[in-house]
Amino acid sequence: MTANEIRAKYLSFFQSTPRNHVLIPSAPLVPENDPTTLFNSAGMQPLIPYLLGQPHPQGKRLTNSQKSFRSQDIEEVGDNRHMTFFEMLGNWSLGDYFKKEQLPWIYEFLTKELGLDAKRIYVSVFSGNENVAKDEESIAIWKHLGIPEDHIFSYDAKKNWWSRSGTPEKMNAGEPGGPDSEIFYDFGEELHLHEQSPYKNEKCHPNCDCGRFLEIGNSVFMQYKKLADGSLEELPQRNVDFGGGLERLNAAVNNTRDVFTTDSFSAIITIISKATKKEYGKDEEETRAMRIIADHMRGAVMMIADGVYPSNKQQGYVLRRLIRRSMLYAKKLGVWGDWGFVKSLVAPVAMQYKSAYPSVLEQQEKIETVLVDEAGRFGKTVEKGLKEIEKMETVDGKQAFLLYETYGFPWELTEEIAVSKGQKINREEFEEAFKKHQALSRTASVGMFKGGLADHSVETTKLHTATHLLHASLRKVLGTHIGQKGSNITVERLRFDFSHPEKITPEQLMEIERLVNAAISENLEVTMKEMNKEESLTSGALGFFVEKYGDRVKVYTVGDPNGAYFSREICGGPHVSFTGELGHFTIDKEESAGAGIRRIYGHLEKSNENNATVTASLSSK
Ligand code: SER
Repeated sequence: MTANEIRAKYLSFFQSTPRNHVLIPSAPLVPENDPTTLFNSAGMQPLIPYLLGQPHPQGKRLTNSQKSFRSQDIEEVGDNRHMTFFEMLGNWSLGDYFKKEQLPWIYEFLTKELGLDAKRIYVSVFSGNENVAKDEESIAIWKHLGIPEDHIFSYDAKKNWWSRSGTPEKMNAGEPGGPDSEIFYDFGEELHLHEQSPYKNEKCHPNCDCGRFLEIGNSVFMQYKKLADGSLEELPQRNVDFGGGLERLNAAVNNTRDVFTTDSFSAIITIISKATKKEYGKDEEETRAMRIIADHMRGAVMMIADGVYPSNKQQGYVLRRLIRRSMLYAKKLGVWGDWGFVKSLVAPVAMQYKSAYPSVLEQQEKIETVLVDEAGRFGKTVEKGLKEIEKMETVDGKQAFLLYETYGFPWELTEEIAVSKGQKINREEFEEAFKKHQALSRTASVGMFKGGLADHSVETTKLHTATHLLHASLRKVLGTHIGQKGSNITVERLRFDFSHPEKITPEQLMEIERLVNAAISENLEVTMKEMNKEESLTSGALGFFVEKYGDRVKVYTVGDPNGAYFSREICGGPHVSFTGELGHFTIDKEESAGAGIRRIYGHLEKSNENNATVTASLSSK
């Protein structure tokens, strides 16, 4: 059975009677209305408002396959089962059915539809705590389904409580969560007892790290909400949130513990294997490198297909990391300088998702161009750094940091080359230099966030507010990949640099200008609130130099701070009080400011001119 077949079977099983779920599309990898996180990392994420009680337009029973990305797992990739990008098969009851339907249905799907061996299935349930009782109901249901008692385990909240933030203590106020019941597939005790297994003298169980069990599904009984006082409140509705990793199900169905040997990865692994002339599975380190390249490039392709571009911030930074790590692991396997290699990894991913996510194939050329450009840039960076290293007699941690700062030369590569020159460099020295640099730029940024402004005159203050309006309008017209790269304001004009891969068309420029002027003519209020950094990001504020801020930041909102505001940004100010003070805004010029970066110059009509002209001239351009 292939991944595509498993996905199709699951979705039709949950759509069919008596389950009657409605199929909803996968949300994009980058969340649309959730500034608290960079990526959708579980199928429930876009459904949070509905799990909390808002009625979903499609009803109370939903199913889908959600494209998911877990950046926290980047370093874990390389073993047989960790991935950054994966698909999560999901079904939800929004205050409809509960445990006695969910557990038998999912069991039926696994054993009858997928034909998994019932004897190899193990399950776990929540063992209870001071607030929530042990999940005896699930235990009774599993037993009734024929799962033997010694295949049912109970664990505490660390293992059998699910919320986006983890255990009940870690949940944020307003967040939903609940006890869960996980399903595992057994790959045999010999893995635990193997002479090289560090666990061989301990008792094995489904959450043992020996590799014997693979988790293939999780039914969360989402019935609690965390309150601001730290307690848990029962939600008005009892929800089910099931998620099962498609790639892991594929591994179980095909009786392999290694997700990279299933058809989810076989085409990309074959190409990597040919290009590097390495055999998958032969050498442990080489196999690890091949898995990392396959995982990261698959993730990179899916991210670009969903509108992410490589950059130094937020999602773009994660994408850049994926590409760079893939290239460095390819270098380890002997492939370097051939960006055709990077390009050749797009087609297998596009073909894999031809029917499930056709937009990947449709954008194949664009994805290839973005990857080849980025690879070329990084390639040059590495070459420059290599030349510098050649000139050095010895490399210490501080010099390694300089190479990093000047050329973006990664620590791992510097370390590798120093090692090959017969010396070891000190990672602590590197990190110390890195921390000093961060502290310095934080101090520098206090000045910077006083404005990036030449002065605090009325004119520059107005232009500063206009910059926020421009930034928000760019994102509305061109997309949320737009991120600030720089800003410079004089009394005469504003200059704004931002990430965007191509020239902006005259029509787009007109629309951007129109939006700015519409916000001006609405005379929106500009309000400021001080908050801590985390709070500010949760509030939806854009903050593109976040690592440079101190702990308390100012957040400026243009428009209704409690409703659909026009713009919200972390910023030092100052700003005008109402947008009507600005006068008419004109874009004077749009040009390139480096690879993947565009620059806009604009000005406001001089003060003392009658603001009434603003509205009249709105569509004059
Ligand atoms: N949200 C749960 C998980 O990610 C089940 O879908 O495991």
